[in-house]
Amino acid sequence: MEHNIENIESKDIPFLLQWYMDSGVDESIGDETLDWFALSSLTVPQTTVLAKATAIVPVEQIAQEANRLARACNSLTELNEVIRNFDGCHLKKTATHTVFCDGNPNSRIMLVGGSPGVDEDRHGRPFAGESGQLLDRMFKAINLSREKDFYMANILPWRPPGNRAPTAEEITICLPFIKRHMELFDPELIILLGGISAATLLNNPVGITRLRGKWAEYDLNGRKIPVRPLFHPAYLLRQPKAKGDTWEDLLDIKARIEMLAL
Ligand code: URA
Repeated sequence: MEHNIENIESKDIPFLLQWYMDSGVDESIGDETLDWFALSSLTVPQTTVLAKATAIVPVEQIAQEANRLARACNSLTELNEVIRNFDGCHLKKTATHTVFCDGNPNSRIMLVGGSPGVDEDRHGRPFAGESGQLLDRMFKAINLSREKDFYMANILPWRPPGNRAPTAEEITICLPFIKRHMELFDPELIILLGGISAATLLNNPVGITRLRGKWAEYDLNGRKIPVRPLFHPAYLLRQPKAKGDTWEDLLDIKARIEMLAL
């Protein structure tokens, strides 16, 4: 898409920018043309990803390798390093940063989101954008802060291009990493943010509207950890009416935290 900047009047610039945003443009690019298809494996069939330029490896095999690598990690630092060096997920090629975690690694509460967006990719930490600001305000309302009281990560450590939803294959490949992440963090309470996180970790595809509003359990090495799925803050920004239900969820979470003395 090309505009001759000399023909654009300054009063039109806000409308042009809004038009770009409405069209889904969320990145600026340089003057030189890049062959993005040559840079990424986006043209590869859905059931396979390219490994080392030419060999085609089934998704299940890549997930097994991710699992082997993740299980060999004995600390969050090691896991972070392993994920950063992992080349089995093509999302890494188009991402700017690997997004591993944020918050207090010594807290007892773990939040898990879906996938990084443009702000998270830019800053290299989860929930770094507008939905993260809402998330912080939501938890502040029950006296919790990310600096002190909770820790967070995502199902996927890399942003899907254009903020599209992750594919089932991308989730399958990255799932061993977030599972090991949860084991190593070892939470007493888990909060799942949005449909992708809830459906994936509860292994239940019914949708967040039916999963929120009640407690579930997550099996962490034989220990049953209480899990509360919540509407994703990005959804709440689009659908403010759902904030009432989320407030009920947050009050339940606050009561459970007090009961567990976390
Ligand atoms: N949405 C998510 O699920 N995770 C992030 O880190 C940001 C937005």
